[in-house]
Amino acid sequence: MQYKILIVDDDLVIIEAARRILQDEYKVASAISGETAFQILDQMTPDLILLDINMPDMDGFEVLAQLKKRKDTKGIPVIFLTGVQGPETETRALEAGAEDFVSKPFTASVLKRRIMHCIQIRSYQKYLETMVSAQTEAIINREKQVGMIQEEMIKAMANIIESRDGSTGGHVKRTSKYVELLVNVLRKEGYAPMELTEYYAEMLCRAAYMHDVGKINVDDEILRKPGRFTPEEYQKMKSHAAKGGDIIRKTMSEIDDQGYVSIAADVATHHHERWDGTGYPAGLSGGQIPLGARIMALADVFDALTSVRCYKKGMTEDEAFSLMEKEAGKQFDPELIAIMMANKNVFSEQLHEFMREWENSGSRTEEEQRKEMIS
Ligand SMILES: [Fe+2]
Repeated sequence: MQYKILIVDDDLVIIEAARRILQDEYKVASAISGETAFQILDQMTPDLILLDINMPDMDGFEVLAQLKKRKDTKGIPVIFLTGVQGPETETRALEAGAEDFVSKPFTASVLKRRIMHCIQIRSYQKYLETMVSAQTEAIINREKQVGMIQEEMIKAMANIIESRDGSTGGHVKRTSKYVELLVNVLRKEGYAPMELTEYYAEMLCRAAYMHDVGKINVDDEILRKPGRFTPEEYQKMKSHAAKGGDIIRKTMSEIDDQGYVSIAADVATHHHERWDGTGYPAGLSGGQIPLGARIMALADVFDALTSVRCYKKGMTEDEAFSLMEKEAGKQFDPELIAIMMANKNVFSEQLHEFMREWENSGSRTEEEQRKEMIS
């Protein structure tokens, strides 16, 4: 491979002298001013630039400064061609980012040796940079893969738990969708824009399906129990919230985005807190409850009320809305409830879509299912 050298000098005699010395070993291009040099640099990328310091209009220092500003030229090594300026100029040249300097008039052997030296150093640098970036990319990909595997495992766990708890199926999917709809209407209404950022919204939607992952720790008999819980059973059932947060924190410790893990853990831990402070596990109240958990609570309850469970029939959406509205300031954040109530149609439409999906997947019609849900 033949390296390319660009000579920039306003003195044609110097350009010709350098060209004669270099043309057998290198591809040589030349420019008689800084402006011409940049026109050439738009067409080609040399492996090294020989740059005169004293030029009219744009001097060598100015050319070098502009080279360092451009992404495509900042890595090209530059050797200054110096006249009689003395050590101060040479020091300034090196400080400005030149690799080396050669005094004019130059001899062939010195010029060749300096050029070869610079090009070798630059190729080693390039090689190292390529190696480092390949290694870094490999590490990032591995970390991403580990993170994705962990997330997929938690998803799988959520689905297994859902199949154990006697619900009609799809609770995880439906609540996640309701969270997404809530987030959309809240953002549309301009609710807490500093907290409910695009990032938070996206992470919350991803985190929603893990909210009940702590139920892995609760026995089947309790999960499926149709009647009332004994106090011990209720304690055990309640433990799923804190346990869920622990599981997420421990199993997702390798995930790069710990902001996401924190949102997911908050949602799992606190989705049964109540606005009035009588919920569990921490008895947090009002704004102490993380926003994601307050949103999750609405989605969770709306789905629980409108779907059929082993121990109950489903409500109509109007019944569910009216019950939830009465809980504003008690179980739920009153501001969130108000926004949800102002957008009831969004949730009704989604509920009906879920019913149609259910109908398409089985033999029951929407009407039959509705009858079952409300009878
Ligand atoms: Fe729960």
